Amino acid sequence: MSQPPITTASGIPVADNQNSASAGPRGPLLLQDFHLVEKLQHFNRERIPERVVHAKGSGAYGTFTVTHDIRGFTKAKLFASVGKQTDTFLRFSTVGGEKGSADTERDPRGFALRFYTEEGNWDLVGNNTPVFFLKDGIKFPDFIHTQKRDPQTNLKSATMMFDFWSKAPESLHQVTTLFSSRGTPDGYRHMHGFGSHTYSMINDAGERVYVKYHFLTQQGIRNLTAAEATRIAGSDPDYAQRDLFNAIARGDFPRWTLSIQVATEAQLAAWEQRTGWNPFDLTKVWPHGDFPMQQVGVLELNRNPLNYHAEVEQAALSPSNVVPGLGYSPDKMLQARLFAYHDAQLYRVGTNHQYLPVNAPRCPVHNQQRDGAMAFANGGAQQNYATVEAGGTNPQGLGNGEPALALDGAAGRYDPRGTDDDYTQAGNLFRLLDAAERQALCDNLAGPLSQVSDEIVQRQLGHFDKADVAYGAGVRAALKARGRNVD
Ligand code: HEM
Repeated sequence: MSQPPITTASGIPVADNQNSASAGPRGPLLLQDFHLVEKLQHFNRERIPERVVHAKGSGAYGTFTVTHDIRGFTKAKLFASVGKQTDTFLRFSTVGGEKGSADTERDPRGFALRFYTEEGNWDLVGNNTPVFFLKDGIKFPDFIHTQKRDPQTNLKSATMMFDFWSKAPESLHQVTTLFSSRGTPDGYRHMHGFGSHTYSMINDAGERVYVKYHFLTQQGIRNLTAAEATRIAGSDPDYAQRDLFNAIARGDFPRWTLSIQVATEAQLAAWEQRTGWNPFDLTKVWPHGDFPMQQVGVLELNRNPLNYHAEVEQAALSPSNVVPGLGYSPDKMLQARLFAYHDAQLYRVGTNHQYLPVNAPRCPVHNQQRDGAMAFANGGAQQNYATVEAGGTNPQGLGNGEPALALDGAAGRYDPRGTDDDYTQAGNLFRLLDAAERQALCDNLAGPLSQVSDEIVQRQLGHFDKADVAYGAGVRAALKARGRNVD
């Protein structure tokens, strides 16, 4: 295949890209060979910091199509009519491992979805699980450190993980999901995606409802056994990347059905009164029986990126990106995340990361943010300052027409331990599993638990017992089968 002639980055044709300029055939080299110098300099700067979490990932573009009218809930234009299509980008990931880690590790999977809407980018940055380990973002850096490497040994540590989890009972629901077979999905196409948090929607009449987003795989759920996942980690560590890329390349486009659960503030208040569960607590689901699923649309992934680094590694999604008609909730985890992502991306990708093609909205951008490294469009000749004048803002813009959110309570730090019920929903999940699934869960837990101290094992067993006595008994039996003596 003939290739175009090589140039420097400044477009200067290069006569010889294979032999450095040297003083005589044996060298030394001449500093004036700036093509060699530029080539080595650029190579030295090829890496950007990997994401502090979710470093290993795969991305693809797609289309979202509205199938059901939800204009009663939201005025967001992407939902304006049945049949309306919006371009999307989705990045899947694992959480704890480095950029080179294996795709089949036991870990939640990221499901970070961008909608390029006519009113700006809406990013729904979720996971393949409806809940999370924590309910307060102040604990997130500590939790993530337990999933990374020991500061001295540089090894992953079951002790760090279970020391943390056993002292944070709110993690039990997600720990139960993680150690079930859903903790090792068979690639990215055979798993669901969730917004996980409670979000809000605002309609044209200025009414707010709260929603949970569910993307249900049309490929069917398929999980790996622990043994299969371990084997594939050795034989094909990029298993999920390969599966996704190849499926799209052969035209076998994966699809997910978007459904939402919807509740008014009054319905949530009544539900909380009845169940004792805070509807904004990320460690809790809204049972489908209480809040039925309502179908909204279909997401299809149908285009592979051309360049992984430019389009996937530099992708920068943030839960703070919502469009008019969509909104946040008081969920403390979500509130912490609203700060964290853009801040991480200013460091990881740079000041002007939102102007890169994968991140740029597909609608006009107009503000007075200027300059900084890599400012290639930079507002052109437009005025670079704003003045206070009527009509300077968009009457349809974000926040306009939203009902005021009534808040109460004294500013302070509130410890939910001792008052929140962190066991019933984890127990409900355990009770949903069939016998084989329960056995797999208990075996999967016994693996790492058998490596940690008695003190941690006992503390963690106490949580399983409180969720369901059969859960505690099952893990004890699995530990004994591994030769670990437990009461
Ligand atoms: C307060 C808790 C959390 C904090 C502080 C946090 C922070 C972060 C940060 C800093 C990144 C890297 C962003 C980047 O460099 O582009 C990230 C990535 C990510 N987080 Fe979180 N996170 C939190 C909780 C969660 C939760 C609860 C979920 C899912 C429900 C989640 C899903 C993701 C996903 C999917 C990515 C990868 C995004 C991508 O593919 O580019 N995170 N998180």
